[in-house]
Amino acid sequence: MKRRGIAIDGPSGAGKSTLARRLARELGFVYVDTGAIYRTVGLAARRRGIDPADGEAVAAMLPRLAIGMGYGEDGLQHMYLDGEDVTRAIRENEISACASKVAALPAVRAFLLEMQRRTARENDVVMDGRDIGTVVLPQADVKIYLTAAAEARAERRYRELLERGQRADLDQVLREVVERDRRDMEREVSPLRRADGAALADTTGLDLEESFQLLLRLVRERLDV
Ligand code: DC
Repeated sequence: MKRRGIAIDGPSGAGKSTLARRLARELGFVYVDTGAIYRTVGLAARRRGIDPADGEAVAAMLPRLAIGMGYGEDGLQHMYLDGEDVTRAIRENEISACASKVAALPAVRAFLLEMQRRTARENDVVMDGRDIGTVVLPQADVKIYLTAAAEARAERRYRELLERGQRADLDQVLREVVERDRRDMEREVSPLRRADGAALADTTGLDLEESFQLLLRLVRERLDV
């Protein structure tokens, strides 16, 4: 049976993962957070003392990496690095920048492509990332570009950090958001952009529930689920 795929792309902080996870639960699809895979590679570089922007050094590290993805009893996606569950470690703020740097390397993207496609061949998926509709699953049944103004995304990220008990400064968070957008959109390989045929979902000024209803409506207009 042909598997169904919903591709959701957009900049960081637009609410992609929260909304995509909930959408997957609602539809009975598997949620795949591809950013978590890039974060795991970023964490691996950091732990090995490799500069995440050094293409040659990172490429040399890849064949020796054991990256695993699994689903816990909680139904959440867990990431494993060399056998260790790194699901929490990859969420540290400093790993965001490492992930964004390794994600700009062609060798890293090529290495992770098949892993993502295989998951989509074997399951009905809601997959979120930056290049899902453009590169990973260009034939996805539904493509969504989910975004919000940078200030709104920084504000959400800031509150998230505070809730987690981490120290944060709003201006600093906004600068990081803008910098990460720039890196994700201006890189040469698979830059973040709205895929052909992708529906636009702008969540600026919408709360989580309103954003979810918008997303669900866009999906149901395009796929019988
Ligand atoms: O969504 P996130 O913040 O967890 O993603 C971490 C980094 O990985 C982000 O800087 C962009 C990059 N990424 C990517 O280049 N392609 C994807 N499909 C997913 C994430």
